[in-house]
Amino acid sequence: MSADAAVLCGLGTWLPPHAVTNADLARELDTSDDWIRSRTGIGTRHVADPSMATSDLAVEAGQRALKSAGREAVDAVVLATTTPDHPCPATAPLVADRLGLGTVAAFDVGAVCTGFLYALAAGAGLIAAGAAGSVLVIGADVYSSILDPADRSTRAIFGDGAGAVVLRAGRADEPGALVPPVLGSDGSGSALIIVRAGGSREPLHTLAAGRGDPYFRMAGKAVFRNAVERMADASLTAARRAGWAADDIDRLVAHQANLRILHAVADRMRVPRERCPVHLDQVGNTAAASVPLALAHAVATGRLESGHRTVLTAFGGGLTWGACAVRWPEITPA
Ligand code: UT7
Repeated sequence: MSADAAVLCGLGTWLPPHAVTNADLARELDTSDDWIRSRTGIGTRHVADPSMATSDLAVEAGQRALKSAGREAVDAVVLATTTPDHPCPATAPLVADRLGLGTVAAFDVGAVCTGFLYALAAGAGLIAAGAAGSVLVIGADVYSSILDPADRSTRAIFGDGAGAVVLRAGRADEPGALVPPVLGSDGSGSALIIVRAGGSREPLHTLAAGRGDPYFRMAGKAVFRNAVERMADASLTAARRAGWAADDIDRLVAHQANLRILHAVADRMRVPRERCPVHLDQVGNTAAASVPLALAHAVATGRLESGHRTVLTAFGGGLTWGACAVRWPEITPA
C-alpha cells in the first residue's frame, strides 16, 4: 500500500441552512453591521439548529466528499473539531459508522482552527506509513454550542459548518499530491484561545457547583498578530518545500478568520491580495471547516482551477498553525 504521496481526490461541504446576518445580531447585541463588516469583513454566518451536533454536519460533508471522489469506502476517517459531540468518546468513529464505512480506523484531531491542516497531515501520514490507502479527512465545528450568547466579539465572528476531503495513495508528481505540510505550535499562548471548563483542569462538575467558565474565550488582538505572522511564515515555508517562490503562488487559501488578517498575510508574503479567495463574508469563521469550505467556494466561483499552485494555511488555538502546498487537481466539489 505504500505510496510516495497523498493525493486529494474529493471535496464536499455542508452548511446548516439557518443564516444569521449582522442585522440579526445587532437586534440582540450591542453591535452593528458597520462594525462587523469593517472590522472583520463578515456579513453572514450559519448556525446549526440546537438539535444538531458536530457529527451531523460531519456526516453530511463526508458523504459529499465521498461522492465527489466517486468512492463508497475509505480506510480511515480523521475528524478535526473543537466541538466533539461528547468529551468522550471521539466523534470520528460515530461518523465512520453513520457513513457506513465499517470498522475503519477513526480518530479526532484537536488543533482548534488549525485542525483541518493537522488532520490533513495525519491522513497523509497514514498513507505514507502504508496504514491506509485512502482517508476521509473532515473539519467540522458547531461553535454556536460553545459561544457565550452575550459575547459580541465572538458571536460576530464564528459560524457553524463542515468540509471534507478524500486523500488517496498516489505519486508526488500528480496534480493534487500534498507536499509535506508545515506544522507548528506555541503552547505559551494557550490562554489566548480557551474554553476553561470541561477538561481535567476544570472538570465539568465545577460548573455544576456554580464555578468555572464553559464558554470559548479569545484575546482577539494578540491572536490577530500571531495569526498574521504564523500563517504568512508557514505558507512561505510550505511554498519553498514545493519549489515555489512567493510570486509563484496562484492561490493562497487561508483560514477565514478576518478579512484584515487575510490581507495582512498576503501583504507580508508579498502575494497580491486578489490571489486569496474570500468566503468569510458569507460564513464567518467556521473553525476546522474553514479551509475546505473556502476551497469549495473558490472552485464553485471559478476562483480556483486545476493546475493552480495553491497554498492552504490556518492558525488557531494552542496556539497552532499549519500550511500545505498542492497543485490543485481536477475535482468537482459536492
Ligand atoms: O480562528 C482562530 C483565529 N482567530 C482570529 O484570528 C481572530 C483574530 N482577531 C480578530 O479578528 C479581531 O481581533 C476581532 C475581530 C476579534 C476584534 O477586532 P479588533 O479590531 O481587534 O477589536 P478589539 O478586540 O480591540 O475591540 C475594539 C473595540 C472594543 O471596545 P472598547 O474596549 O474599545 O470600547 C470591543 O469591545 O470593539 C469592541 N467590539 C465590538 N463592537 C461592536 C468587539 N466586538 C464588537 C462587536 N461590535 N461585534
